[in-house]
Amino acid sequence: MYVRVVAATVAAALGTAAALLSPGSDARAGEHGVPTVIAHRGASAYAPENTLASIDKAAELGFSWVENDVQRTRDGELVVLHDDSLQRTTNVEDVFPGRAPWKVRDFTAAEIARLDAGSWYSPAYAGARVPTLKQYMRRVERNHEKLLLEIKNPELYPGIEQQTLKLLGNEGWLSGGHLRRLIVQSFSADSMRTVHELKPAVTTAYLGKPSVAQLHQFAGFTDLINPSYGSLSRGYVSTVHAFDGPHGRPLGVFAWTVDDAATARRAAGYGVDGVISNKPDVVRAALGSD
Ligand code: G3P
Ligand code: CA
Repeated sequence: MYVRVVAATVAAALGTAAALLSPGSDARAGEHGVPTVIAHRGASAYAPENTLASIDKAAELGFSWVENDVQRTRDGELVVLHDDSLQRTTNVEDVFPGRAPWKVRDFTAAEIARLDAGSWYSPAYAGARVPTLKQYMRRVERNHEKLLLEIKNPELYPGIEQQTLKLLGNEGWLSGGHLRRLIVQSFSADSMRTVHELKPAVTTAYLGKPSVAQLHQFAGFTDLINPSYGSLSRGYVSTVHAFDGPHGRPLGVFAWTVDDAATARRAAGYGVDGVISNKPDVVRAALGSD
């Protein structure tokens, strides 16, 4: 791990800083430095987020990278859901009216399996379920997709890193070519440090924007720094690219959540390697991404 300030400065001047990225996965910038586009919670502008339908939709639109959020039920099942409560994206209030505030960790997997996770979005998706992570991984595999997997709220679920890695290993995602199709990310630096220590071969990403002074520490356990696009600048992206991560390759940057053409072009102009979007087709049209 060392800083290659000169190389990054030259690359930034040439507008090709993104092309320097090559983390352990296939998450490098595409040809000619065009950012990779990641379908956020699946293609969540067009299908209910974090459902199998949302990743089918991403595949249908021609996107290989999808993002999701993983949490844990009361009886220890890993499930795919964004909020720590089931309230917004399921009919849990109707099915279990006396169970407010309907936290994921207060429900069993069997109870969650009864919920409708599609009707809130559109009647066309009535009956969609909250997938278990196992179900989700099998659909990602069937669709030949690549996964940016977020461990959501890890402070609520002690040991979720080890449990998630075990499931990924059982599903064949921790060896061979699958490792190039997987990135694990979190807003928790501790969680990403844990993932890196448990399985150093896994590509990891930190959600947030560490200070420049902190970057050398983050480069010890994370391959990518994934900030909100609103907090980004070209200078920050160049600085991140100047650090080598735990796999000896330049740190990458994925920006979120970008849903319009002008913002996508601005993010690409900063030299980011990936753009995470609810409307990946809009971003692709703006950037000519693959
Ligand atoms: O992948 C970036 C993004 O998912 C982080 O925010 O709240 O949508 O999980 P959030
Ligand atoms: Ca997420």
